Amino acid sequence: MSRRGKFITFEGLDGTGKSTQLRKLAAALRAAGHKVIETREPGGTAIGERIRQVLLDSKTKSLSPIAEMSLMFAARAQHISEVIQPAIERGEIVLCDRFTDSTEAYQGYGRHLGSGNVLKLHQILCGGLQPDLTLLLNVDPGRSVARARLRNRRAAQAARADSKAKSAQRTDENRFEQETSAFFSRVREGYEKIAAREPQRIAVIDARGTPNETHRRLMEVVRQKLNLRA
Ligand code: TYD
Repeated sequence: MSRRGKFITFEGLDGTGKSTQLRKLAAALRAAGHKVIETREPGGTAIGERIRQVLLDSKTKSLSPIAEMSLMFAARAQHISEVIQPAIERGEIVLCDRFTDSTEAYQGYGRHLGSGNVLKLHQILCGGLQPDLTLLLNVDPGRSVARARLRNRRAAQAARADSKAKSAQRTDENRFEQETSAFFSRVREGYEKIAAREPQRIAVIDARGTPNETHRRLMEVVRQKLNLRA
């Protein structure tokens, strides 16, 4: 494919500042003249966002780990065919908040479903599509999850306070944040193993400083690894 674009994913524990960094990178790349798509998983399409509601709503009880993994992949398969692949073929840069590394870390390690199973499903359901670059944001685990919990609580309070936000009242995005610290330790260990296995694709970014410091580190990596003007 002559006009192949770039596929860049953001990974890390909940509350590591991925979304902020994704927006900052998108703005910098656009300022340099690139066409950029910002998207996220689970979600990124109308169908995927409906699946996201089921997956993240804390009212979703007793979802089996296998069903959870299947829904993550169902949303992803739709996302690839509807958004990611067409954009790459148009020569654009796709920035995606989470991708299959999340399934390997959260379901493979966190839920004990195993890396091998996740990677096999990725081959079958996603055609083995690999990001050109994955930015793994690293902060102290306790801090990041606490940050995510606070953010989701505030969003839920704001939705309750706003009587017009009827639909927002019905869902929240807290199901994963309610997990135990042992779960998040397994997820973190999973990310470490994935990063050690694929150092060419995955850059571990120290995200403990200010958002601007992290952005500068990240831009350096993007310039070096993808040879993009930025
Ligand atoms: P996200 O919206 O990125 O949450 P945060 O901003 O808090 O990092 O992701 C939602 C949650 O879904 C997050 O807790 C991780 C989880 N998740 C999985 O467990 N498996 C997956 O494959 C994906 C994409 C997300």
